[in-house]
Amino acid sequence: MLRSLNLTRYGSRDWHLREKAQAHIKYGDTWALVTPGQIWLNVANPEAIVDIFQRRTQFTRPVELYQMLNVFGRNVSTVCWVEWKSHRRIISAPFNELGEQHCMDTRTVSLNVLAATGFSRSYRFSESRASDEHDGVSGYWAALMTLMDNSLFMQLVLRATCSLPFAPALWGKIGEAADNFKDHLASSLLRASEEYSHEKQSISTNSKGLTIDELLGNIYLINIAGHDTTANTLAYSVVNLAMRPDVQNWLSEEIKAVVGDDPSETWNYESTFKHLKRPLAIMYETLRLFPPIMAMPKFTGDQHQSLFINDSIITIPSNVYVVPSLLAVQSHPSYWGEDALEWKPSRWIDADNGFVVPRKGTYLPWSDGAQNCPGKKFSQVTFVAVVASLFRFHRVHPLCADGESDEELKARLHKTVEEISHGVLLRMKDADSVRLSWTLHTDL
Ligand code: HEM
Repeated sequence: MLRSLNLTRYGSRDWHLREKAQAHIKYGDTWALVTPGQIWLNVANPEAIVDIFQRRTQFTRPVELYQMLNVFGRNVSTVCWVEWKSHRRIISAPFNELGEQHCMDTRTVSLNVLAATGFSRSYRFSESRASDEHDGVSGYWAALMTLMDNSLFMQLVLRATCSLPFAPALWGKIGEAADNFKDHLASSLLRASEEYSHEKQSISTNSKGLTIDELLGNIYLINIAGHDTTANTLAYSVVNLAMRPDVQNWLSEEIKAVVGDDPSETWNYESTFKHLKRPLAIMYETLRLFPPIMAMPKFTGDQHQSLFINDSIITIPSNVYVVPSLLAVQSHPSYWGEDALEWKPSRWIDADNGFVVPRKGTYLPWSDGAQNCPGKKFSQVTFVAVVASLFRFHRVHPLCADGESDEELKARLHKTVEEISHGVLLRMKDADSVRLSWTLHTDL
C-alpha cells in the first residue's frame, strides 16, 4: 500500500540503483520529489544536465550536505564557491603530475596506490594488511582504513570524547587512528599551498594559501574521495567479470597483445595505458551501471532559475535541490539502446577499435563542469594497471555455496551487485558472500 503511494519507493537510499531510468521513463525527463520541508527536482535530460553543471553559480553545490567530510578541517568539497577556487587550485597541483606517473582486496590496492603517489610510501599488498594486524592503528594504511570504516561515527562523536577514560575501547581506537593519520600526513599539499601562496603574492600581497586545518581536511578528503570510489569500481568489475568468462577472454586478448610478457615495472603511460582500451572499457561500463555517486544534487539557493528542457523553458523556484540523475541518464534506453541494462564492455569499442565517445550529458560518473572529479585520470590509470595485471595471466571464477546450482549461483551474484550498503558511496552490501577463485590461465 505504502509502496503503491510511492512513499517508500523513493525514500530509501538505494532507490536510484533499484529504479535506474524507470522513474524518468514513467514521469519524464524531470520530476519532483516533494516533502513538507524540501523539493528535489530530478533531471535526466542530457542537455539540461550539461547546462546545470556549467551554471555553477546558479545551481550551486549544497555544501551543507557534505559537512560529514569536515573531520580534520574544511576542504574543497565543503567550502562555498568563492573559497572553492583556491582549495581546488591547490589540491589539483599534485594530481596533474601524479596521474601519469604511476602506474586481493580492492580497497587495499587502491589505498596502496594512493599511499605510494601521495605520501611516497610504498607497501607490498601483504605488508599493508600485516601493518593492520601488528601495529594496531599506527600505520598510515590501518589508520585511514579505521577512519573510513567509521566515518559516520566521526561525524556524530566529538574527537575529544574518544580519549576520555570511560570511553569504550572502540572509541579509543578510532581517536588513536585519527591522531595517527594526522601525524602521517605528508607535505605534498603543504608544499603546493606554499607555492600557490608565493605565486599569488607576486600578484597581490593579501592572498594566502590554506590553513593547516584546511590542508589536513583536503588530504583526508582526497583519501576518502579517491579510495572507495576506485576500490568499489574494481569490486563491481571483478564480480561482473567473474560471471562472464567470455569477457575475460576478450579482455586478456588485448592485454597480451599490448604488454606481452613485459614485466609490469616497464609499463608506462604512453606505450601501455593509452593502448589498453579494453580494461578502460571495463571501467567505463562498470561506472555506467554502478557509479559511486548515483545522483549529484545542486541547489537554486535564494534565486529562482530557468532551465531549457525539450523545447520549453521551466522555472525552478528558489530553495529547490536540482539533481542530475547520473545513473538514470547512464542507463536510459533512449541513449544506450534496448540493452542499456546489460553490462557489456564491448559497447565502448567501435568497429575501428576506437574508444566510443558517448553523447554529451549521457555519461557523467566523474561529474561535469568546473567542480568535476580531479582524480578522473588518476583513477583510470590505477584501474587499468590493476585490471591488466590481474587478467594478463589469470582468470576468475565464482565459487558455488554448498549444494548451490550454477543457476542459483548466478542469481545470487546478480542480487549481490544490486544490493547496496548504507554508506556515502555505492558499495555492495554483502560483497564478502561472494567467494572467488583465481587460476593461472596456461594458454597465455
Ligand atoms: C572511479 C573513480 C572515481 C569516481 C567515479 C569519482 C567521482 C567523483 C564525483 C562524482 C565527484 C563529485 C564532483 C561534483 O561535485 O560535481 C568527485 C569529486 C572529487 N573526487 Fe573523485 N572520483 C573517483 C576517483 C577519485 C580519485 C582517485 C581521487 C583522488 C585521488 C578523487 C578525488 C576527488 C576530489 C578531491 C573531489 C572533490 C572535487 C571538488 O569538490 O572540487 N576522486 N569524484
